[in-house]
Amino acid sequence: MRGLTTLALLAGLGLGGAAAVVGFGLFNVSAQVGHLPGVTWVLHTTFRNSVSLRAPADDEVPPLSDPDLVSLGAGHYATACAMCHGAPGEPRSATARSMLPAPPPITEAVAHWEANELHWIIQNGAKMTGMPAWPVEKREDEVWAVVAFLVAIKGGTAPDVPSPTLTGTAYCQSCHGDIGGPVPRLDIQPADYLEAQLDAYLTGKRPSGIMAQAATHVPENSFAELAAYFSSKPAAPVPGLVPEEGLGAALAAQGTRDVPACLACHGGQETGKGPRLFGQNEAYLVSQLTLWRNGVLSHDALMAAAARELTDKEITTLSRYFASVGR
Ligand code: HEC
Ligand code: HEC
Ligand code: HEC
Repeated sequence: MRGLTTLALLAGLGLGGAAAVVGFGLFNVSAQVGHLPGVTWVLHTTFRNSVSLRAPADDEVPPLSDPDLVSLGAGHYATACAMCHGAPGEPRSATARSMLPAPPPITEAVAHWEANELHWIIQNGAKMTGMPAWPVEKREDEVWAVVAFLVAIKGGTAPDVPSPTLTGTAYCQSCHGDIGGPVPRLDIQPADYLEAQLDAYLTGKRPSGIMAQAATHVPENSFAELAAYFSSKPAAPVPGLVPEEGLGAALAAQGTRDVPACLACHGGQETGKGPRLFGQNEAYLVSQLTLWRNGVLSHDALMAAAARELTDKEITTLSRYFASVGR
């Protein structure tokens, strides 16, 4: 009985102490003071174990050596990460170094982690450290581009990070001009479609952490001008009207019992119902169709319905078909 009373008394004192620390501001939140001895060790060990427990399995790591994927990661890194972690050959600012904990220089940060762990850290961020989470949910797929860039840093093969001071069209071109694969061509689309997409990225209606970052890096009132600049290509003849061989062409033109004919909406600029797919980059088409099929994208009900029953094989066949015609 006495033991219990003592315990209750101690618990009461503990709580009272904690309340005093909170209530009277006894805990010094200054980042200049540093942590008490041992606290840094506890925080780092907690971080390390928390990441190992939750990181995706090794066999979920996709191939990361594609140069387009690595460059896309470098492009995102330039405006989303370099301000805190610096870049290879570029120091962190004095202000970033004064954070507590301080963001490690990126060459040091990558040394401690495997690709799957880096993915988890970039997707989730780290509570109460200043390390931000990915700007949108359910886009684990695009986080791999940044991981690909970090793995290239680890291997000493990383390309230069684009200058963070690029603005306007030069900034957009650092991805849309030089990189293919997972980065879409813009020149084949009508300006009003491009502008609507920029709005959709900004509001989160169309989720993409990479394009949300890009859309907030330029003034909102420049969207129309940017869209007009990139929509440069005159309307090409509609290849769907030319008889084409193969499964991709047949699917696109006729569809199946479960899948409507894509060309009903994606025939060309004239139809006005959907963006142009002919000549678009194959890897981009595969990723977008997979996102529509999996329900990650749902901001157009008819397109969502069109993709719902697509198999992986139909996605690759259709993407190869659209990418190869009208280049
Ligand atoms: C506002 C500053 C800030 C930004 C922006 C930022 N980070 Fe961090 N990052 C941090 C801090 C602070 C930590 C935690 C360091 C610690 O716990 O010791 C961290 C931790 C990390 C780690 C784990 C490093 C380690 O060894 O503990 C990696 C990897 C990382 N960041 C990568 C990135 C990437 C990639 C981006 C861009 C998508 C990014 N960070 C954006 C501040 C930032
Ligand atoms: C870091 C690389 C990067 C930068 C910088 C960038 N983009 Fe993008 N952009 C992408 C990627 C990747 C996608 C595909 C995103 C997705 O999954 O929806 C995309 C998609 C788009 C789309 C949708 C295209 C379509 O067919 O639906 C538009 C429009 C666009 N970007 C315009 C811009 C403009 C304008 C800028 C400059 C303000 C810009 N982007 C800067 C990488 C970038
Ligand atoms: C009923 C009309 C309709 C049909 C049928 C349709 N789509 Fe779409 N699709 C759209 C619309 C509208 C969008 C643009 C939605 C938006 O605003 O982002 C779209 C977007 C897309 C995109 C993203 C393009 C980009 O640049 O980001 C791809 C890829 C696509 N559709 C492929 C297909 C394929 C393949 C089929 C056939 C299996 C198909 N669609 C059938 C209307 C349709």
